Amino acid sequence: MIKFFVKTYGCQMNVRDSGLVTALLIKHGHVAVATEQEADLIVINTCSVRGKAEDKALGKLRLMTITKKEFPNRIVGAIGCMVQRLGEDIFDKVPHLDFAIGPNRITSLPGIIDAIQAGQGPICDVGLDKGTEEELSAHSESGISAFVNILFGCNRRCTYCIVPSVRGTEWSRPAESIVNEIKVLADNGIKEVTLLGQSVMAYGKRNEVHPEDYISPNGYIEPLSRLLEAVNNIEGINRIRFTSGHPSGCTIELAKAMRELTAVCAHMHLPVQSGSDSILKRMRRGYTVDEYRAAVARLRNVLPDIAITTDVIVGFPGETEEDFEQTRALMNEIGFNNAFIFKYSTRPSTPAAEWEDNVTDEEKMNRNQILLKDQDERASAISNALIGKNVDILVEGVSSRNKDRWMGRTEANTITVFENDGTVKVGDIIKVHINRATIFTLYGEIVK
Ligand code: SAH
Ligand code: SF4
Ligand code: F3S
Repeated sequence: MIKFFVKTYGCQMNVRDSGLVTALLIKHGHVAVATEQEADLIVINTCSVRGKAEDKALGKLRLMTITKKEFPNRIVGAIGCMVQRLGEDIFDKVPHLDFAIGPNRITSLPGIIDAIQAGQGPICDVGLDKGTEEELSAHSESGISAFVNILFGCNRRCTYCIVPSVRGTEWSRPAESIVNEIKVLADNGIKEVTLLGQSVMAYGKRNEVHPEDYISPNGYIEPLSRLLEAVNNIEGINRIRFTSGHPSGCTIELAKAMRELTAVCAHMHLPVQSGSDSILKRMRRGYTVDEYRAAVARLRNVLPDIAITTDVIVGFPGETEEDFEQTRALMNEIGFNNAFIFKYSTRPSTPAAEWEDNVTDEEKMNRNQILLKDQDERASAISNALIGKNVDILVEGVSSRNKDRWMGRTEANTITVFENDGTVKVGDIIKVHINRATIFTLYGEIVK
């Protein structure tokens, strides 16, 4: 029995992988602890998406291995995307590291720990073979929400992006495995699932995912709509989200499925990256600004109140002031509910790394600040427009900021704070009448 602590950097996929690793270690007889001080095994789940993400993970790994002097029995290892990128070289960058496991091989972690305890090491595993569906379905969540992988890898190859080279070829999980995994989650009290994939609308387009005889009661043909329908029919699952979207997959059928399937939230994360056609083309995003607009229009025609969130990169090689102004104008035109703005970071061996990173860091910072300020104003207007209205929220529990209050989230994922008169419990979906709003938070009263 080893006491372990997992620290996670990176995206929701890494959060899911850390949850999986935690579940597998617990199954193997180990015990999760709340702080790294108590732990004899430290697992750092790393991200490679930007240079800063790698610097953070490397810094943490070095700190953890240096402090091994104070904790002589301590095992320290790295998992995740940066391990896949660096391979064995990670042991030069982080001396005294005990193991390094790439994202495809995380199910091998318990066995690798056994080997290290038996005196082997350092061990590197960056193979591509995934674990069994049974191993990949393990969960350890205690709350009401869970992430579920539906598609691994990515085949899009955007020119700036490291993900395809570290997460490998796109592969969709069979619908049956996903549904079985979520049924078990529902039996264990999970109310909300977020279906994960880098380009989730590619679900089922590369490999077969459906049993041949599966007929959609609503007549859906597209694999993602059918999967949403199957998950929607699972008893106890009241909310379904999926991320990330791509304009090419925003079909009328998907929009209708989102409207007709009651558990599916009217929310889509639809990264736009840029509002300039020439930049989008060099990013190899696979759509023009007009195609992006058309995708949003298709969604809004069917679901007028859908919340749309996005990712934007500023300072891509060759991004001019004019390109940037086009991005700014498009963001304003679409009126995103939320936006994550990133400064372009050159990733080794990507096509964009061939081009000079010619927007200065100062200019990137400046563009970042401008978009953030615009977004705050937009988000605040969107929140204020909800004052006087009722929203449906999934209740998560006591508010962390104010213990006298409770909180939940709207379908758009906005935190909503309310006073619980004792009638509401965790996991309920309730109506709240909004009477006050800040940029990121709504405040209101329970509607009886
Ligand atoms: N698969 C998702 C995005 C995954 S990465 C999609 O395509 O929608 C999350 C975000 O990180 C991306 O949307 C992009 O905005 C940002 N990103 C990826 N590579 C980057 C880089 N090299 N520099 C800066 N931001 C980057
Ligand atoms: Fe990267 Fe593009 Fe794939 Fe997203 S879709 S993971 S940005 S290559
Ligand atoms: Fe996610 Fe970072 Fe890997 S964004 S897919 S953890 S490179």
